[in-house]
Amino acid sequence: MKILITGGAGFIGSHVVRRFVNAYPSYDIYNLDALTYAGNLGNLSDIEKAPNYHFMKGDIADQKFIDHLFDEYVFDKVIHLAAESHVDRSIKDPMSFVKTNVMGTVNLLNGCKNSWGKDYTNKLFYHISTDEVYGSLGEDGLFTEENSYDPRSPYSASKASSDHFVRAYHETYGLPVVITNCSNNYGPNHFPEKLIPLFINNIIKENPLPVYGDGKYTRDWLYVLDHAAAIDTVAHNGKIGETYNIGGFNEWRNIDLVRLLCDLMDEKLSRKRGTSQKLITFIKDRPGHDKRYAIDASKIAGELGWKPSVTFEEGLRLTIDWYLSNPAWLENVTSGNYLEYYKKMYS
Ligand code: NAD
Ligand code: TYD
Repeated sequence: MKILITGGAGFIGSHVVRRFVNAYPSYDIYNLDALTYAGNLGNLSDIEKAPNYHFMKGDIADQKFIDHLFDEYVFDKVIHLAAESHVDRSIKDPMSFVKTNVMGTVNLLNGCKNSWGKDYTNKLFYHISTDEVYGSLGEDGLFTEENSYDPRSPYSASKASSDHFVRAYHETYGLPVVITNCSNNYGPNHFPEKLIPLFINNIIKENPLPVYGDGKYTRDWLYVLDHAAAIDTVAHNGKIGETYNIGGFNEWRNIDLVRLLCDLMDEKLSRKRGTSQKLITFIKDRPGHDKRYAIDASKIAGELGWKPSVTFEEGLRLTIDWYLSNPAWLENVTSGNYLEYYKKMYS
């Protein structure tokens, strides 16, 4: 079994690659990643010498490169995670999201279609997507797989577009596909541009914690290793042509989450309770900020038997412990370009 995992040097991808390399020694795992600012081979140093692990540097938006790759290899499964993934960056530079998330996905679909010919036996194109394609919820209700799409940021619009292409290739060419739409992930190796790792880094350094707007926006949080387990389940048992929503059954308003994080960090850093909460600073809101995301994950739970394994507090504690034990990782990703990024976004 040859499995191509795209974006395997990123946050979620690295946990998926590690899980597959360790759990399935008989599979050959090919990690294709362009190593953008978000890709970091340091995320995989523990498995880089495994005999069933192979790294390939390349850009999925480069059509010639992808065509050539699929001429050379016939992959049994493609698990596609490579993407530009940060909403705030998509507001500043939408086109790079179109290139990677839309064109990159279509290049991979064409690669599969051409290299598989008419024989799709035991083949799979598995597209990893987000709950953000469904838009924004009011006070009540949950996103189900039946929700219509209503993306509202350039990021979610590009992911929605890629989902549509994946379904179109299934309907038009019969390509064996499956899609999962997951809620917000958190955990080790998360690049500190997203809420939780950015705030952990700022708390360590005693820098302000920039909460957008009134902080009453709601997200549903899932521990990244639980997402990797869900991806394993769907890659092996998901039904072709289906969509599965993945979520943590774990909704938090940003401000409540930030206060909990501050208290846990004070405890871990032996600071007086309340110290880190003083860093909370309300700043100008994100344009088009989606009010609430919440996932109904009962389909994957009922049909495939997956459910999250840790509570939010357990997951947050594991996450904080990881960041405090890996200062070199954090230092490496927060020097250089990161400082310019931070200035551009927050000053
Ligand atoms: P990430 O930004 O941490 O990692 C993305 C990876 O893709 C990086 O390693 C980067 O180098 C690589 N990449 C980017 N452009 C590329 C290109 N053109 N060619 C090849 N590689 C490229 O992202 P993540 O948070 O790990 O998200 C992974 C996937 O999961 C994405 O598709 C994202 O939309 C989806 N997702 C993320 C979340 C979340 O909370 N992070 C939730 C639901 C779905
Ligand atoms: P983020 O981690 O960027 O994920 P997403 O926008 O994809 O849900 O943001 C999570 C929530 O936290 C979102 O409501 C925006 C908010 N947020 C802040 O208040 N301040 C910040 O500095 C960041 C990065 C996010």
